[in-house]
Amino acid sequence: MFTEFETARIDHVAARPGFGAAATETLTRDAFDRAEAEIRGWQGYEKTPMYALDTLGDALGIGAIHYKHEGPRFGLGSFKALGGAYAVLCTLQRELSKTLGHDVSPADIRDGRYAEQAASITVISATDGNHGRSVAWGASRFGARCRIYIHAEVSAFRAEAMRELGAEVIRVDGDYDYSVAQTRVDAEKHGWFIVSDTSWPGYSQPPLDVLAGYGVMAREIVRDLPEPPSHVFLQGGVGGLAAAVAAVFVQAWGTAAPRVVIVEPERAACLIASARAHAPTSVKIEEETIMAGLSCGEPSEIAWAVLAEVSHDFITIPDTVVAPAVRALADGVWSTDAIEAGESAVAGLCGLVCAATQKDLRDALKLDESARIVLIGSEGVTDPDVFKAIMAGQDAGAKG
Ligand SMILES: Cc1ncc(COP(=O)(O)O)c(C=O)c1O
Repeated sequence: MFTEFETARIDHVAARPGFGAAATETLTRDAFDRAEAEIRGWQGYEKTPMYALDTLGDALGIGAIHYKHEGPRFGLGSFKALGGAYAVLCTLQRELSKTLGHDVSPADIRDGRYAEQAASITVISATDGNHGRSVAWGASRFGARCRIYIHAEVSAFRAEAMRELGAEVIRVDGDYDYSVAQTRVDAEKHGWFIVSDTSWPGYSQPPLDVLAGYGVMAREIVRDLPEPPSHVFLQGGVGGLAAAVAAVFVQAWGTAAPRVVIVEPERAACLIASARAHAPTSVKIEEETIMAGLSCGEPSEIAWAVLAEVSHDFITIPDTVVAPAVRALADGVWSTDAIEAGESAVAGLCGLVCAATQKDLRDALKLDESARIVLIGSEGVTDPDVFKAIMAGQDAGAKG
């Protein structure tokens, strides 16, 4: 039943979390509060569902598995809807306050009070798809111009979804990290504003806003669970999703917060490399992983600051386990509800199933009948062509 998972090659680094200040001072309760007050007031806001993967839990001998399904988020298909759009709003607020010489509120921007001035501002970002979609949506909602940079392997469907939201989509050579570098060059040259989900030395405010937006999802989980889970398996690209969720959990539950297990594709494993080096460390992506949203070779500086303090384990998974997990969820094999998930959504789930079915890891991570796991299903079907190919068993050619 679990052949691909039992036999998958898994890299593991055990870390020693320190519970320092980053989970409360880099990502503050106040910033999460402000983002939550704003985003929960947006038209179309609805809490996303959390499913119980009971059949899987029984088969693995795990007490409970909660799967937070981000597919329906604002009709954009992923949790990223919460971050990029909110960071566009914050960027406009800061910039308009500066140029107008007085405080501009989010409501001023939402209500179009400075529409003419907002329309003269261009926000730009690099993306594997989901973050750019959120930035494009935010820009169209709040009246700014938008340019999105995608790399050679981002699918045509994902590019079109951003164009439909009014963004100009620019395809650049190279990989995700190269597309990020290109936004820095162009922003400098043209006076555009980068709204990135990753940070680097000297650039951190918009990524902090992005992470504050992700907190909405994490707080929904906190409110939905009667008690703290024992483990959370969080997939990592640049590390933003994991940092935001882990910080909210630490703020909510303190020392009772769950064991944090970071899961990455072996083809883009910059966080495990950072854990080994005890410092943010980049890796070169030799081949794109099927988990498009996780294909990042450079960790986010601010995300790393949090992850270095709160993470207990870092593991990598091979691409071979992704399609079996997508199919098992969609066919309702692991739960009463059938769940349609994208390739990046199932990474945490794959990490759990691999760890629970490989004895050394199962013991090391203390996965047993008493374990209560939280997983983030970070996207729904954000590329129907990829989903169709996976469901048809064409895993190898599944990248769009
Ligand atoms: C669906 C999905 N899951 C997870 C991630 C990883 O998020 P982060 O890059 O913040 O680690 C991404 C990033 O694009 C994504 O699109």
